[in-house]
Amino acid sequence: MIVTIDGVAASGKSSVASGVARRLNIPYVSSGLLYRAATLLALEAGTDLGDAPALIALLSGSPLRLEPLPEGNRIFLTPVGEQETGAERDLTADAHTSAVDAGVSALAQLPELREWVNAQLRALTPPFVAEGRDMGTAVFPQAQAKFFLTASPRVRALRRVKERLEDVAEVEAALVARDAKDKAQSAPAADAQLIDTSTLDLSGVIAAVLRGLHQ
Ligand code: CDP
Repeated sequence: MIVTIDGVAASGKSSVASGVARRLNIPYVSSGLLYRAATLLALEAGTDLGDAPALIALLSGSPLRLEPLPEGNRIFLTPVGEQETGAERDLTADAHTSAVDAGVSALAQLPELREWVNAQLRALTPPFVAEGRDMGTAVFPQAQAKFFLTASPRVRALRRVKERLEDVAEVEAALVARDAKDKAQSAPAADAQLIDTSTLDLSGVIAAVLRGLHQ
């Protein structure tokens, strides 16, 4: 079984996917974490976020491992020269900075980079809950149940500020800008159930998804 949960930036996809996955006792998979880790590596290496061949070359030499744990995904890099020791660097925290937020949409617009992410996702063995922007459309059109989460920009900004301790108006403006850049890959699937989470708390959204699974 594959359940997809897509939605706009900071709509609560990760927390909802985690809650649903735990209730179903299966993993969840954060596709955004792969885009974020790729962006982090490019920023650190000084690689242009619009240069697909250079990005693919960088990523080919930087083995990433996504750990799709139900309570939260993590992503690890095996740095150059550490292949033999097996020592890994946990990129998860560094992949959630404002610098990565600001750059990730540029990289995510490149078809080559989307194929790189999608190939890793399609190699995973179901069952799982997959969350992102295009899980129910481009990546897993055959999923048994699909959801698309929305919420007003202000509600989303307030949620994110709780995680990041930043200014609400600035965070809201950055989210709206990122929504616009991500628009091409963020449409709900025709057979997705839409959930407006603006007036729901986390357990309310998880309950709505679980109810939707039985429809
Ligand atoms: O949680 P939030 O929406 O802030 O971010 P995310 O889901 O980790 O996604 C980060 C970025 O990755 C998005 O802004 C998109 O540019 C890109 N992304 C994408 O293009 N397609 C996906 N399936 C998932 C993420």
